[in-house]
Amino acid sequence: MGVVLGIDVSTTATKAVLVDGAGRVVGIASSGYGFEAPRPLWSEQDPALWWAAAQEAIPRALAVAGLAGDDVEAVGLTGQMHGLVLLDAADEVIRAAILWNDQRTGAECDAIRAALGPAHLVELTGNDALTGFTAPKLAWVRAHEPANWARAAHVLLPKDYVRLKLTGVHAMDRADGSGTILFDLAARSWSPEVLAALAIDPAWMPPTFEGPELTGAVTPAAAAATGLQEGTPVVAGGGDQAANAVGVGAIASGRVAMSVGTSGVTFAATDRPLFEPAGRVHAFCHAVPGRWHLMSVMLSAAGSLRWFRDALAPGVAYADLAAGAGEVPAGSDGLLFLPYLSGERSPHPDPLARGAFVGLTLAHDRRYLTRAVMEGVAFGLRDGLDLMVAAGMPRPSQVLGSGGGTASPVWRQILADVLGASIATPATTEGAAYGAAVLAAVGVGWFGTVEAATDALVRATPAAEPGPDASAYVDAHARYRDLYPALAPEFHRMGPPGR
Ligand code: XUL
Repeated sequence: MGVVLGIDVSTTATKAVLVDGAGRVVGIASSGYGFEAPRPLWSEQDPALWWAAAQEAIPRALAVAGLAGDDVEAVGLTGQMHGLVLLDAADEVIRAAILWNDQRTGAECDAIRAALGPAHLVELTGNDALTGFTAPKLAWVRAHEPANWARAAHVLLPKDYVRLKLTGVHAMDRADGSGTILFDLAARSWSPEVLAALAIDPAWMPPTFEGPELTGAVTPAAAAATGLQEGTPVVAGGGDQAANAVGVGAIASGRVAMSVGTSGVTFAATDRPLFEPAGRVHAFCHAVPGRWHLMSVMLSAAGSLRWFRDALAPGVAYADLAAGAGEVPAGSDGLLFLPYLSGERSPHPDPLARGAFVGLTLAHDRRYLTRAVMEGVAFGLRDGLDLMVAAGMPRPSQVLGSGGGTASPVWRQILADVLGASIATPATTEGAAYGAAVLAAVGVGWFGTVEAATDALVRATPAAEPGPDASAYVDAHARYRDLYPALAPEFHRMGPPGR
């Protein structure tokens, strides 16, 4: 048996991961790039960078594994979601891709809400119009770059540009498709109503596929450029969040994955197209056929602790900070921290939200402040989870945790206590690229279903159970929840952070 290849076209690098039939990573390589911010709030990348990086990473991963192109039985793609790649009729890139973290489209988001009605927009697509999503980027190009708009013939997302280079085919998976908010969430396909309301030509949108479905095969030119064998099948794959969830086993309804990195993403698989009526958490298709997911995104999760360390304890090791936090009682003696240091997405979609310590006394030393930061991040993650449960998903008894925040035993225990769920740590650390490889393994027939593949390949180790401190957090969380509505008028008076 050969290997499968997962390719992750991320914001910072394209990564190639080779996985064998036992689920072992046998080769890995990545090639990095930067992104451009030509104006404040803008974030762009030249699609040529992704393809150049793929042409470096794929042969390097093969060399690391000591394998040849014909050992690769199938390829799965994943990558940064929402980025707009606009091509002309000859498949030439018209302008730099506008990325998921670009913030220029506030006016277009308002116009999309007005065109469909805010409640109907969420009912249809599962989501509010947010600046990061693809649809408002298209509206922005029409309004500001008429010459580019006139040339447009194809819309793709970042990883699907690499698919076009590999296979010559325009195609997209449904997880990423739903992240454009041009999708009918329940129907798992382009929404004629949304496309018509936004006057976008349906012929621009590629056919969409379930994650493990075959979309095409490596062309002779791509084989020469990458070292893969001509004809190797390429499956649809999934946007990075959905593929990551496959990689950690968040497949079945109610399975929740939480990554506590710079940002904090809570991902819950669902077997129905659930959505939160105000669009305060996202609702997208899963990369698993016939499944959906809810997702809440906290912008400063472990990023809050990094800020705290850099601003107030420079040079101190995270382990030493955490050890201090572990010496003081749950609830930090009344001290609360709001983690909205870069504004917030879930549960308060508010770019002007700010961070705060509330309730300081002379008794609070660095240990209390550290613990309050950890607890505040856990409360914010719990708020996102509560919105998902209110939207109709079962409350989870276990959360699959990953990222720097779950590496600390003290923080892990706080998360278990505040979330009321055990925390388990997945064995695989290659995230989305690993999930894309698993989807390729299903597509090429190694496994009958994505469930069978993750049952066989993905393991998680229990790492923390809710303990006696859980009850101490009930009151603290209630006080935390009251702070944002109380402070929001002040945040809005302050306006955007300046220098
Ligand atoms: C998901 C999102 C990010 C990007 C970054 O909604 O915006 O996770 O996909 O890679």
